[in-house]
Amino acid sequence: MTFYQPETVLCNGALFRLYINKEQLDKRIVELAGQINRDYEDKKPIFIGILNGAFVFLADLMRHVTVPCEVDFFKLSSYGDEKVSSGSVTELKDLDADVEGRHVILIEDIVDTGLSMRYMVGRIKEKKPASVAVVTLLHKPDATKHYVNVDYVGFQIPTLFVLGYGMDYAQEGRNLAQIYVIDDGSEDSSSPVIPEHAKK
Ligand code: IMP
Ligand code: MG
Repeated sequence: MTFYQPETVLCNGALFRLYINKEQLDKRIVELAGQINRDYEDKKPIFIGILNGAFVFLADLMRHVTVPCEVDFFKLSSYGDEKVSSGSVTELKDLDADVEGRHVILIEDIVDTGLSMRYMVGRIKEKKPASVAVVTLLHKPDATKHYVNVDYVGFQIPTLFVLGYGMDYAQEGRNLAQIYVIDDGSEDSSSPVIPEHAKK
């Protein structure tokens, strides 16, 4: 299967260039799933995808998970159509599943200021789960404004605006199979890194 994977892409008038390719994504996702398989060996976790951005990552991650598991979705909006977080969270869809007493694994595409994930962890804890873990494909640690513990991180990236693999710019670009970075020449675009503590 060949996905849509150009080198550069114009999205809503902004130019983006390739940042994390398909091979890097696939390899890292297999590693993350391996960690989850080990950590939840005797459990039946429920993955909660945070819509919209997490749907591509969740779909790929889940297909490498070998423990019995379930899935549900929660929908939040924080960015509006801008490249910076709006600073407030809007809840657009609650869970359908009852997670009381369950091992919940929250799945995000990216943790930026931490606002959305901090809010999500609080909302899930109200539902009295047995445990809550946080998985994010990307983390921008320098952008943190609301601290939240992240248990599994795919890649740490500088404070850059990225696109693709579920992530959008004004709702477009989610269909890109790889991750792109905005090419405006002004930002630190150093490479993504796999956090030391995550290399199990
Ligand atoms: P936070 O609440 O500031 O941590 O932002 C988290 C949400 O904003 C993520 O779930 C994404 O949907 C979106 N977001 C954050 N950074 C980016 C980005 O670089 N590109 C696209 N969406 C982003
Ligand atoms: Mg999101």
